[in-house]
Amino acid sequence: MKAGGPPPRFSEAALQEIGRIYARYPKERHQSALMPILHLAQKEFGGWLSVEALDYVAEFMGIPNMRVYEVATFYTMYNLKPVGRYHVQVCTNISCWLCGSETVVKTLEKKLGLGVGKTDDEGRFTLTEVECLGACVHAPVMQINDDYYEHLTAEQVAEIVDRLP
Ligand code: FES
Repeated sequence: MKAGGPPPRFSEAALQEIGRIYARYPKERHQSALMPILHLAQKEFGGWLSVEALDYVAEFMGIPNMRVYEVATFYTMYNLKPVGRYHVQVCTNISCWLCGSETVVKTLEKKLGLGVGKTDDEGRFTLTEVECLGACVHAPVMQINDDYYEHLTAEQVAEIVDRLP
């Protein structure tokens, strides 16, 4: 979703998915569904959440905007600015660091010609460092969009990037 574009609105398919998400929670606890709904909103609205999108989610769920901002700004899986078609996230926390995440980051920087936190001019790749991907036992780990890649070596990282369509 581009700034200045049409206001964010969930599609029919998203509304049905939200129905399934809400069904997991007691009716009086629907606001606990904020995280999966934000995740869905991010997918629906072009891979990131603008302030407009966050406000829409708050209004849609009937909860204060601040509650939505607090969650969206705390977790790194919510993108608060546009990302490339491939969002490459590398964990550099302790397990991954001990197992070679520095090499993973350096290989990606070289291969993609990008610094951490940057997106290339074509909008193909965004490279991000994250705190923990919750797969510490398989360190070092990176995530590209919805896929996890584990026990990485520099060679594997290069091959994975080369295989992307
Ligand atoms: S430390 Fe890297 S996944 Fe947890």
